[in-house]
Amino acid sequence: MKCMEVAVLFVLVQTMIPHSAAFTVSVSTTSHPTSLPPYLTHPQEASGPPHSAPTLFANVSGSLDDQGICQCSVYLPDTTFPVQKVEKLEIIAQTLSQKFDSELSKVTQYIKAMEVYEQKIQNLTIRVELMEKTSGSYTELDFQLLKVEIKEMEKLIIQLKSTLVGSNVIVEQLYVEIKNLTMIVNDLELMDKNNVLAIRRQIVNLQNQLKACEENSSKTTEPPYFAPGSCSHGGILNITRPYIIQLNWRGFSFKYGAWGRDYSPLTPEKAMYWVAPLNTDARLLEYYRLYNSYDDLLLYNNPREYRVTYGEGSGTTVYNNFMYFNIYRTRDIAKLDLNTNTVVLRKALPDAVYGNRFSYAGVAWQDMDFTVDENGLWVIYSTEASTGNIVISKLNETSLDVLNTWETKQYKPAVSNAFIICGVLYATRTMNTRKEEIFYTYDTNTGQESQISIIMDKMLETVQSINYNPSDQKLYVYNDGYLVTYNLIFQPILQ
Ligand SMILES: *[C@@H]1O[C@H](CO)[C@@H](O)[C@H](O)[C@H]1NC(C)=O
Ligand SMILES: *[C@@H]1O[C@H](CO)[C@@H](O)[C@H](O)[C@H]1NC(C)=O
Ligand SMILES: *[C@@H]1O[C@H](CO)[C@@H](O)[C@H](O)[C@H]1NC(C)=O
Ligand SMILES: *[C@@H]1O[C@H](CO)[C@@H](O)[C@H](O)[C@H]1NC(C)=O
Ligand SMILES: *[C@@H]1O[C@H](CO)[C@@H](O)[C@H](O)[C@H]1NC(C)=O
Ligand SMILES: *[C@@H]1O[C@H](CO)[C@@H](O)[C@H](O)[C@H]1NC(C)=O
Repeated sequence: MKCMEVAVLFVLVQTMIPHSAAFTVSVSTTSHPTSLPPYLTHPQEASGPPHSAPTLFANVSGSLDDQGICQCSVYLPDTTFPVQKVEKLEIIAQTLSQKFDSELSKVTQYIKAMEVYEQKIQNLTIRVELMEKTSGSYTELDFQLLKVEIKEMEKLIIQLKSTLVGSNVIVEQLYVEIKNLTMIVNDLELMDKNNVLAIRRQIVNLQNQLKACEENSSKTTEPPYFAPGSCSHGGILNITRPYIIQLNWRGFSFKYGAWGRDYSPLTPEKAMYWVAPLNTDARLLEYYRLYNSYDDLLLYNNPREYRVTYGEGSGTTVYNNFMYFNIYRTRDIAKLDLNTNTVVLRKALPDAVYGNRFSYAGVAWQDMDFTVDENGLWVIYSTEASTGNIVISKLNETSLDVLNTWETKQYKPAVSNAFIICGVLYATRTMNTRKEEIFYTYDTNTGQESQISIIMDKMLETVQSINYNPSDQKLYVYNDGYLVTYNLIFQPILQ
């Protein structure tokens, strides 16, 4: 007896309840099949043999029990219907959905906080970028504030990470950004691109050293004293170590230029400082600044900033409130009134070469080097007739006429720089990256030249310009963007 006459095949698959792969299918011969919901009835099965059913029910074996109820077993191969997998999936889906709900509530709770953090990071990033770009204008305080703020944010993010169990992409990203910011700020401070902090610390250090030195030396051997503007000495005996004042106001990349202190013979105590970095082309003098005191200079305070169009090279000097420089692409001298920033006089320097013909060794475009001493304004240059040797001319600063000229035997492109003290030209040459030597003198009073050797230590490789100030008897050196001074020690006149 087979189950062929089965009226209704009733298959109930409840995926929610664990089952084995084999389903027990109840096949009933009872007379009330209509009580079953219509979707559970399979009219085709009622008359057809099992093998005529779709392949899903192909493997059916059945038996009739004592009560006339047909017991059939349907084997559903796992490959046909992965019940276990579906069940597992469902359980996972349920768990996930619960987890999701709880995570979602947390995420929405923190999403606002994170927006604020993102805003903060953007703000900080902008500030860091600003600090990276602007030169010389930020202070230690800026760094400290930034660091505190970043530290604070890092703490908050770490808290956030621990509350949001598991990984959260947004939080991880924020964390990376904060770490990045920290690194950038640290790098900034470490590299200290513009060396502002280092220089400031150095200034304090140097000033203390100087004070100690001065106190010490006043007790012991005092160097011979010569009144400001006096020439009752026998020339340079020695020179101190360099005193680094600061980086020029335009920044580290402005390696070329000149600076100094105005010498006004009638008011020698006047302390007006000028700083004239060239543009980064090492050629054009376009902007300069004036400071009315040493303190202002040190702190970059109250500068008066002006533009000129254009000076050439770093041979610029200032005398009696006028700036003198070589006019771009000419052999002309400009006399600029510093009160009004106007060129009040312009005149050619006869026979002078220009346009980088005979500049200094290692310093381009300085065909004309203006310098000031106790007697007034001078210019150091070359002519074709001098075959590139140094020519010295004393100028009438009122008319820019040449008052007198001396030709030396020293080839100008072989010296690194020059200056004049009491009518004596001193020329320097480069010994190495750390030392410069004052090696040559030409005395315009006697027409005599001589070799000397006074070693000048230097911070950086190239001495771009040297200016002498007779009232404090210091050299003002522009050393690859740094403003540096040296004190001179004069020797008594030999009897
Ligand atoms: C029917 O099921 C039995 C028991 O699982 C199996 O051994 C047999 O190979 C199946 N036959 C077909 C045609 O799938
Ligand atoms: C970010 O900067 C803007 C403008 O400077 C400011 O309005 C805003 O409050 C700042 N946001 C945060 C979170 O500090
Ligand atoms: C963090 O810095 C690294 C390298 O400096 C960079 O590749 C990465 O994109 C930065 N990540 C973020 C989020 O700013
Ligand atoms: C001061 O002079 C003494 C003796 O000459 C020396 O030992 C000491 O190092 C000097 N101090 C300073 C700060 O130069
Ligand atoms: C010049 O000064 C340096 C250090 O400032 C010193 O070592 C040197 O001996 C001095 N030379 C002379 C000739 O006094
Ligand atoms: C300098 O030039 C001015 C104006 O031409 C003149 O009055 C003065 O005498 C000159 N000075 C000297 C020292 O030649």
